Amino acid sequence: MCPKVLTFLLVASFQIYTQTYGDDFTVMSILKDAWENTPRNWVGADPCGGKWEGISCNNSRVTSITLAAVGLMGELSGDISSLSELEFLDLSYNTGLSGTLPASIVNLKKLKHLKLVGCSFYGPIPELIGSLQLLESLDLNSNGFTGQIPHSIGNLSKLILLDLSDNQLDGAIPVSSGTTPGLDMLVNALHFHLGRNQFSGAIPNELFRSDMTLIHVLLHDNNLTGSIPSTLGLVHTLEAVRFEGNSLTGPVPSNLNNLTNVTTLILSNNKFTGPVPNLTGMAYLCYLDLSNNIFDASDFPVSFSNLRALKTLYVSLPPSFSLLYTSLQFMIFHAVNIVKPSSLPVNNRMMENTGLEGQIPPTLFDLPGLQTL
Ligand SMILES: *[C@@H]1O[C@H](CO)[C@@H](O)[C@H](O)[C@H]1NC(C)=O
Ligand SMILES: *[C@@H]1O[C@H](CO)[C@@H](O)[C@H](O)[C@H]1NC(C)=O
Ligand SMILES: *[C@@H]1O[C@H](CO)[C@@H](O)[C@H](O)[C@H]1NC(C)=O
Ligand SMILES: *[C@@H]1O[C@H](CO)[C@@H](O)[C@H](O)[C@H]1NC(C)=O
Ligand SMILES: *[C@@H]1O[C@H](CO)[C@@H](O)[C@H](O)[C@H]1NC(C)=O
Ligand SMILES: *[C@@H]1O[C@H](CO)[C@@H](O)[C@H](O)[C@H]1NC(C)=O
Repeated sequence: MCPKVLTFLLVASFQIYTQTYGDDFTVMSILKDAWENTPRNWVGADPCGGKWEGISCNNSRVTSITLAAVGLMGELSGDISSLSELEFLDLSYNTGLSGTLPASIVNLKKLKHLKLVGCSFYGPIPELIGSLQLLESLDLNSNGFTGQIPHSIGNLSKLILLDLSDNQLDGAIPVSSGTTPGLDMLVNALHFHLGRNQFSGAIPNELFRSDMTLIHVLLHDNNLTGSIPSTLGLVHTLEAVRFEGNSLTGPVPSNLNNLTNVTTLILSNNKFTGPVPNLTGMAYLCYLDLSNNIFDASDFPVSFSNLRALKTLYVSLPPSFSLLYTSLQFMIFHAVNIVKPSSLPVNNRMMENTGLEGQIPPTLFDLPGLQTL
């Protein structure tokens, strides 16, 4: 518990002794006063004296606040925007931190990393967040943020990590149009983590461009509709693509097969139709889940046997033909109908209540990664 009266006394005394760089000290004491469970060593007149846990400074200006998982409780005061040299703010995993993100946070012009993962913040992401021109990571994963993704995020030309997963954001995924910025402009970004929200509408065609360097595109567990834009197949740097748990339709674009570095592809629990995609080009694919879609079951691609890195394959082909196949370590049996080769060891308990039927191409089980079976 924060001894508020004592804090005020200390604030008063800093201001006497530290007039040259008094502003940051004043702000730190306002933050300290607004929070419970600040570190025990946040005492004395000088947060930059090297003794305040989680605080780093340069020339007696606060440049970094790193207080992850220390049990902080309270709100983030808008006064933080006066720490004009702040580059790094990490308050992650303090579930007692709540309230809205103050709009004035956009005045922290030197901020490079904003990490508020696993707190209890809610309300909108400040509309002008795009004025934090030096921002490299914006990590707001696992909070209660609502509203839409501000278009201005497209102005963050240095952004590498955009992680807004596991919030209650909605609306469309913003792309640029004329004078309005959008996520398609983030050509230096490696990560778009937007899963577990309530985004709706189609995944815009314009979202993906061949000059992007994305390795992770995670849009799973939203309310997205329409089909996968074929522009996704232009982003050759991709390694993980997760679209499961939406209402996506149509065939999977054939040029996804150009994404040679993909190791994880999860398209389950959508309404995809058409042929099971040929993914032979994904030489490093090791986790593939196509289950709970309505792919055409008539010709299961023998080409899966060329996927030499594959460890887990999970496909269901309704109405009467389902296939699930994993390596021994990762047997996940929850398809309605499982087809198995006679050589596959059966875990009887897990196979209970599971109808076995159908046929699979024998070549499927020539996969080198599965030979320990
Ligand atoms: C400290 O700030 C000065 C400018 O005020 C800058 O030149 C220097 O690189 C900074 N040092 C660090 C470690 O950031
Ligand atoms: C994006 O940046 C441009 C150029 O710096 C600026 O004119 C525009 O107002 C910014 N838009 C937003 C929404 O921040
Ligand atoms: C998203 O989809 C779920 C289930 O289909 C539905 O209950 C919910 O209302 C939808 N939310 C929005 C914001 O469209
Ligand atoms: C694929 O991954 C390799 C190894 O990490 C990397 O050298 C190569 O540049 C990647 N290819 C593309 C198109 O990004
Ligand atoms: C990508 O795939 C399409 C067919 O799906 C093919 O026509 C095209 O040449 C491929 N592009 C590259 C760059 O490999
Ligand atoms: C699958 O794609 C590969 C290219 O990666 C191609 O060589 C092969 O012919 C395709 N198979 C089918 C059945 O279309």
